Amino acid sequence: MEILSNYPLQSLNTFGFKVDAKYFAPVASLAEVGKAIDFAQQKQVPVMVLGGGSNVMFTKDFEGLILKYDYDSIEVISETEDYIYVKAGAGLNWDQLVAYCVEKGWGGLENLSLIPGNVGASPIQNIGAYGVEMKDHFESLEYLHFETNETSISFASDCQFGYRDSIFKNALKGKGLILNVTFRLDKKPVFNTSYGTILWELETMGITEPNLQTMRQAVINIRRSKLPDPAEIGNAGSFFKNPEVSASQHQELKERFPNLVSFALDNGSFKLAAGWLIDQCGWKGYRDGDAGVHARQALVLVNYGKANGKQLFELSEKVLQSVKEKFGVELEREVNVV
Ligand code: FAD
Ligand code: EPU
Repeated sequence: MEILSNYPLQSLNTFGFKVDAKYFAPVASLAEVGKAIDFAQQKQVPVMVLGGGSNVMFTKDFEGLILKYDYDSIEVISETEDYIYVKAGAGLNWDQLVAYCVEKGWGGLENLSLIPGNVGASPIQNIGAYGVEMKDHFESLEYLHFETNETSISFASDCQFGYRDSIFKNALKGKGLILNVTFRLDKKPVFNTSYGTILWELETMGITEPNLQTMRQAVINIRRSKLPDPAEIGNAGSFFKNPEVSASQHQELKERFPNLVSFALDNGSFKLAAGWLIDQCGWKGYRDGDAGVHARQALVLVNYGKANGKQLFELSEKVLQSVKEKFGVELEREVNVV
């Protein structure tokens, strides 16, 4: 295994920021991970795992070691009458896994089609889209603890999954490496069409009885119409999370802003559409140099070419402030700022 110095990360982060890592280690086995961690400890530098780089914002060069674990297996590990259990290596591209399951006729992940990134990052923020979250089909994961160099298995009850959240974004942030994830998939798929635009898209496609392929295609069509492709415009998807407010704050806002876009949650509070809030503050389509707010989705901050992470971070501060001033609501960044 070779540890590379001053390694360029521009093609390894979907914002396309031109930053370098002081050290970079492509690793493919546990032994190599161990060696890379020893190296970082000797040099006394921090370690960061990088997957597909689609949810990170580098605001400067990374003065530590980037670990890139590319193990990309898929294997069926067991099955029952109803379920099939599939274990995927952390380095496998997420959408390749979804496409594979759809092709095999295993249900559960189809609404999560076309989300960028790798399998290993999917539990980090419990990726979600169109009424489904990764946790709904999560069985377990294997985790390597950097400090002890030991592996352990975590089940859903260990992972503290929440909306775009998990233990790996909090208490275990930066503490280890997710090596593989096992998913529980339905042999008799049940289609989730609860998200309004899915039904509308299926109708437009002329589909009355969806199957896994058409569900996947509907999601892909919606995503392509709304979200910028990082291969064309640098971005990391939703920059902020949709904020949750109490029923009373929601009521107050609804009186002041009758068109407020919100969704009732089971716990009695409400989720607000951050994209709508930002849009109402006039940011949609804003551009300052190469840093901007996407013209079709105000929740997505973009790099048109030569912007850097600092500029985008400053723009995100301004967006955050304006939403706070107009609505009294504090947005939280979804993207991992480094
Ligand atoms: P990275 O960006 O490489 O890493 C993200 C974080 O996870 C970092 O902190 C990193 O250190 C850590 N990490 C990565 N791999 C590991 C590992 N194996 N072990 C330990 N830590 C690790 N997200 C959604 O939830 N829903 C969406 O609909 C969605 N749409 C998107 C659309 C676009 C166009 C883009 C660009 C992004 C979108 N995202 C969405 C965000 C992103 O795709 C997900 O967060 C994805 O899971 C990130 O995967 P990654 O491999 O690129 O992770
Ligand atoms: N809206 C506006 N203006 C905008 C953007 C959105 O008015 O500029 C309104 C829309 O009209 C809609 C509402 O806001 O009524 C919600 O918009 P959308 O359906 O596009 O979803 P979102 O809340 O912006 C969330 C996730 C996405 C996920 C989609 C589909 C978060 C932070 N984002 O976006 O996830 O793909 O729903 O489920 O929860 C991501 O996390 O990176 C991501 C892309």
